[in-house]
Amino acid sequence: MAVLVTGGAGYIGSHTVAALVERGEEIVVIDNLQQGHREAVIGGKLYVGDLRDADVLDTVFKENNIDAVIHFAANSLVGESMKLPGKYYHNNVYGTLCLLEKMNEYNVKKIVFSSTAATYGEPENVPIDELDRTVPTNAYGETKLAMEKMMKWFDTAHGIKFVSLRYFNAAGAHESGRIGEDHAPETHLVPIVLQAALGQRPHISVFGDDYGTPDGTCIRDYIHVSDLADAHVLAVDRLRGGADSAVYNLGNGQGFSVKEVIEIARKVTSREIPMIIEPRRAGDPAVLVASSSRARNELGWNPKRNQLEDIIRSAWTWHQANPGGYSAKD
Ligand code: UFG
Repeated sequence: MAVLVTGGAGYIGSHTVAALVERGEEIVVIDNLQQGHREAVIGGKLYVGDLRDADVLDTVFKENNIDAVIHFAANSLVGESMKLPGKYYHNNVYGTLCLLEKMNEYNVKKIVFSSTAATYGEPENVPIDELDRTVPTNAYGETKLAMEKMMKWFDTAHGIKFVSLRYFNAAGAHESGRIGEDHAPETHLVPIVLQAALGQRPHISVFGDDYGTPDGTCIRDYIHVSDLADAHVLAVDRLRGGADSAVYNLGNGQGFSVKEVIEIARKVTSREIPMIIEPRRAGDPAVLVASSSRARNELGWNPKRNQLEDIIRSAWTWHQANPGGYSAKD
């Protein structure tokens, strides 16, 4: 049996494909390469196409013996989603509807879903528990919540079991050095800080230092991308074992401010990394930190690369070796 990975050429998708291939799984990837990179798919069979294209999905499901899907394919930028919500509803929500309908048609009843801490909005508790309220502060988080709810009703009606993994802030790169983070445009804090360290940017802009946090900058919970990948493998196992649908947070349970991330990056890189303070970015909650005890207890998940210094060091290794990202090798 094969696992279909949608968005498997993207950052977290490609690391999950690598983890699945490492344990001998047959992998099929569908990716429209809007954000993904062909070179990032190591070991899987790649179909270039869009989930909203019924012909592509028919081909993928007919040509392969798929028993489970891991669904990453989506737009995922908080800032962009506040300017272009329609793009997020179309690609994320409608794309997921197309996928679930085809899964039902082809009798594929297991899906692991790439969800996000952005489903919570401003948290009512820190760390955040899966049962806490979900009131997204940005359109991106709203679409991911809508996708989760859609899965719930497809489970009720059609018995499609899902595991939704709500990630906090993914960072770092694969230990092989072959895959890492490369978005265009790049908007995430860790790669931008490292681009500044490499001199590719004049400075890092800090979006707001007037939040109600100790140093005034936003606090996030950074998790190594390969630890996230491991959780997907465990979630597939859990569904194959006949478990019911569930939602899990994935984070380290420890928060770091934007200024602290920059400070650690200065230490790791031994570079100056100039910083300027700019206005807040729309849609950013002040603090997002996970309680991942449910994932640890029920999935048996045990993040191994949990020191932020090590996470940033692995990203730094990738950025130094691939200063232009994947495209530079084309
Ligand atoms: N930040 C800056 N300057 C930058 C980039 C980011 O100050 O140049 C700040 C942001 O304002 C935020 C923090 O750094 O406070 C982290 O920002 P990222 O863009 O790296 O990450 P987000 O927390 O906005 O979002 C990420 C993913 C989402 C996911 C979310 C969950 O992009 O998909 O984590 O926490 F939903």
